[in-house]
Amino acid sequence: MIQTVAWIVSLIFMLFITIVFGVVVLKSKEKRDYDPIKKKWYKARSFYGTTLVVFFLVITIYTLRELPYNQPVYGEGKDPTIVDVEALQFGWNFSETEFKVGEPIEFHVTSADVNHGFGIYDEDRNLLAQTQAMPEYTNKVYVTFDEPGTYDILCLEYCGLAHHLMIQSIEVTE
Ligand code: CUA
Repeated sequence: MIQTVAWIVSLIFMLFITIVFGVVVLKSKEKRDYDPIKKKWYKARSFYGTTLVVFFLVITIYTLRELPYNQPVYGEGKDPTIVDVEALQFGWNFSETEFKVGEPIEFHVTSADVNHGFGIYDEDRNLLAQTQAMPEYTNKVYVTFDEPGTYDILCLEYCGLAHHLMIQSIEVTE
C-alpha cells in the first residue's frame, strides 16, 4: 500500500520536473529584460522560503508532541507487568519469564557490564521488538504477546567471545 502511494507520488513528481524542465528549455529561447524578472523571482523565492520554513516548523512541532513514541496507553485497572531485565557477559537475569497472551508487559532493560542488545524473537526467528541494554541506563520495551509460544531473547550487540550464547527463553501461554 505504502509502496504504491510512494510510487504514484514519485511518478507525479517526475512528471512535474519533466514539465518544468520542458518549459525552461522552451522559454530559454525568448529574450527579455532581466531586471523585472529578477525582482519577480526574488519575491517568489522569499515566499517559497518562508512557506517551507513555516510548513516544516508546523510538521516538526506536530510530530514531536507525541514524544516519546511507542508509549502504550493502558486501560483503567490494566496495569502492565514490569519485568526487570539485566544483561551481563554472558547471559540474562529476568525477574519473570512466564507470561499470558494479551498481558501488557514492560521490560525494563539494563546491563551489569558492557553494552548488549535486547531482541525478542518469535519461534520463526522474526524480531518482534528490541532495545539497547546499557550500563547505568534503563530502556523500556512495551510488548503484548498475541500468540502463545516460546520466545527467545537474543543479544543483538557483539559483546565478547560468548556473545552468541546470550539466549533466554520466555514462555507465553493462553
Ligand atoms: Cu551480549 Cu552480545
